[in-house]
Amino acid sequence: MANDSNSISQRKKEHLQLCLTGDVSYKEKRNGFDNYDFKHYAITEVNLNKISFKTDFLGKKINYPFLISCMTGGTEESENINAKLAIAANELNIPLGVGSQRQALESTSFHSSYKIIRKNAPHIPILGNIGASQLVLFKSFKPVQMLAELINADAMAVHLNSLQELMQKKGEPNFTGLLKSLGKLVESLDIPVVVKEVGAGISKEAAKKILQTGVKGIDVAGAGGTSWAGVEILRNKEESNYFWDWGLPTSYCLRKISKLKNEFDFYLIGSGGINNAIDMAKAFALGAEITASARTVLIQLDKNGVKGVMSLVREWFEIVRKILFLTGSSSLAELQNNKLIRKDKLN
Ligand SMILES: Cc1cc2nc3c(=O)[nH]c(=O)nc-3n(C[C@H](O)[C@H](O)[C@H](O)COP(=O)(O)O)c2cc1C
Repeated sequence: MANDSNSISQRKKEHLQLCLTGDVSYKEKRNGFDNYDFKHYAITEVNLNKISFKTDFLGKKINYPFLISCMTGGTEESENINAKLAIAANELNIPLGVGSQRQALESTSFHSSYKIIRKNAPHIPILGNIGASQLVLFKSFKPVQMLAELINADAMAVHLNSLQELMQKKGEPNFTGLLKSLGKLVESLDIPVVVKEVGAGISKEAAKKILQTGVKGIDVAGAGGTSWAGVEILRNKEESNYFWDWGLPTSYCLRKISKLKNEFDFYLIGSGGINNAIDMAKAFALGAEITASARTVLIQLDKNGVKGVMSLVREWFEIVRKILFLTGSSSLAELQNNKLIRKDKLN
């Protein structure tokens, strides 16, 4: 069988290894945040010490609007990684996404690699995860309900990875019926559905159609960070190819999709190459309510453990606090109020 549970586990191992060791970033394309600068506000009256990042996400109180993006599950290594990510997320009181749970449908052998997350993080918002190419095959959504129950999920994320499926040997690039399936999933689950890309971004036109199905969150996962075409190209031992840098930059996706907030009630999640506090702050300024990172967190965990991940998130938000002060913004919501300037307009 092309995609039995052993081959899925093996693929995931290779993904993890390449994300930790290979250079799988976009080559030329950037996430787009570099086109912007913050508008310094000389008469700021903001009290630095009164700035709070506490907010609500999926019905729970969190300390920082930062999501550790969906990464792993379904292998022995991933149980260890998920256990540690969950400890960090729990200590920080921030949300966490699990990696694709497809493997849990095929075999129970690694159910523990997902369950460990809820065990180590009893109260934080946790997102389950399933791919679009599996979703369209379901006749009933009971299996997805089972995946949600496995981790007592607060939302189910559906990942759109057309580019990756296309590049992957034995990939399944067929999303026929996707919007219909999304609508049915929204109806059958008792938790919200979030839709995410995995690094190629989501356009405003696509986001609108997704939101019309009743989806309650969009994670743009734009281009400029981890290239999933790149990961698969390296796995295939191919020479670099045109699609390595395919996708819509994160800043572009956020700027465009944030305009849909007038029409729909949804969480806009900003991710895709958010590897430092400045880009994170710009993602908030361009309309994200929550920001998210995957590979940078994984690398940090690998190098510096749970404490390293916790320090990273805290340090980033200390820098964001200073940016709020300097732009005269008393909250992240105020940072969305015309606090960025395009660099080409600075002269
Ligand atoms: C090792 C690794 C595994 C991933 N696995 C999944 C997955 O199973 N499901 C999913 O929705 N996204 C997955 N992603 C994609 C991330 O959630 C994220 O959307 C993408 O990597 C872009 O963020 P980044 O630039 O911060 O890495 C994975 C990312 C990494 C680094």
